[in-house]
Amino acid sequence: MKFCIKCNQELGAHIYGLHEQCFSDWFLISMHQKFKNINPQKNSISSSYSKIQQKKDTFFHGRYKKFSATLNEVDYILKVQETKYPDLPYMEYTCNRIATLLSLAVAPYKFIEFQERPTFVTRNFMQDYTGTLNHIYKFLPKGEKHHNCKQIAKVIMTETKNLNEVIKFVKMCLFDAFIGNNDRHGRNIGLIASSKKTLLSPMYDNPSYFGTEEENVLGADLNLSGSVWTSKSKEPRIKDYVEEFIQMGFTKICLEFKKKVLTQFPKIKKEVEQSYISEKRKTHFLLFLQKKIKEFENVK
Ligand SMILES: Nc1ncnc2c1ncn2[C@@H]1O[C@H](COP(=O)(O)OP(=O)(O)OP(=O)(O)O)[C@@H](O)[C@H]1O
Ligand SMILES: [Mg+2]
Ligand SMILES: [Zn+2]
Repeated sequence: MKFCIKCNQELGAHIYGLHEQCFSDWFLISMHQKFKNINPQKNSISSSYSKIQQKKDTFFHGRYKKFSATLNEVDYILKVQETKYPDLPYMEYTCNRIATLLSLAVAPYKFIEFQERPTFVTRNFMQDYTGTLNHIYKFLPKGEKHHNCKQIAKVIMTETKNLNEVIKFVKMCLFDAFIGNNDRHGRNIGLIASSKKTLLSPMYDNPSYFGTEEENVLGADLNLSGSVWTSKSKEPRIKDYVEEFIQMGFTKICLEFKKKVLTQFPKIKKEVEQSYISEKRKTHFLLFLQKKIKEFENVK
C-alpha cells in the first residue's frame, strides 16, 4: 500500500501498512508489537480445514483468506485479500465506515497490510462477553422462506426480550438494502447468549455485493435485493422492507433511518470517493447508492 489507510497520507516506513503512530493509535498499543497466535480459520466454502490446520506453516503463501490472531492480548479476525476478489477488503472497510456514519452497531474494525496483502481486520467481540455466539439459522425452521423479517424479528424478541434488539435488526435490513448487501444469510446474524441475558451481536460481514462482482459485469445495472424476505417479496428492495416494517409497527424507525441516510449522504459519498476501491467499482457503487437515495426519498 502506498498510502496509510488510517490517515490517507503517503507511506514510507510502515508497520502492517500503517504509519507507526497510526498503528499504535488504532490498536491502542504503546510499543512496536506484532500479531501473534496466527491461525487459519475455517470458512464455509473450504472443505479442507483439517488439512489447513496440519499445514499452518504454509499460510505465508497466501492460501487462506481468514485468520484469527492476537495483538497485545486482544483477539482479532483478519480477512485477507483473495486474488479472485481484490477489492473485497476495501469494500468491507468502506461499508463499515458507512455503517458508522449511520450510527449502526458494527463490530470494531480496522485495515492493515498482512503478509503483503490488504486485510480487513475485525476485533473479536466475543472477548467482551462470557457467552456464546449463536447464528440465527439455528432458531429458524429450515428453508429460505423462513429467513424472513417477521420470523427473525420474532426470534430476536423471544430470545432477547428487548425491542431495542429487534430495532437493530430492522436497521440492519435497511442498511443492507441501501448498500446492496445480498448476503445476510443465517450465519451473518448472531445472537450472544450469556447466563444473564441474550443480545443481538454487533453487525459483522457487512460488505456490498459490489465488492465481489466481476469488474466486467459491473457496467450492468445491478438490481440487488436483500436476502431476508418480506411477506410480499422474495426479492425485497427498500420499499418492500419499509412496507413490512411499517406493518410491524416500526414506522418511526424507518423514517428516522431515511432521515439519517439522507443527511449523511454527502459524507457517505466522500467516504466512497476517498476509498481504495478500484475506480470502476467505485463509480458503479456510487451510482447504486444514488439510486437507493432516490428510493429512500420516496419513503413517506
Ligand atoms: N468481529 C467478530 N467477532 C466475533 N465473531 C465474528 C466477528 N466477525 C465475524 N465473526 C464470526 O466469524 C464468522 C465468519 O466471519 P465473516 O462472516 O465475517 O466471514 P466470511 O468469510 O465473510 O463468512 P463465511 O465464513 O460465512 O463465508 C461469522 O459467521 C461469525 O460467526
Ligand atoms: Mg459470513
Ligand atoms: Zn497514517
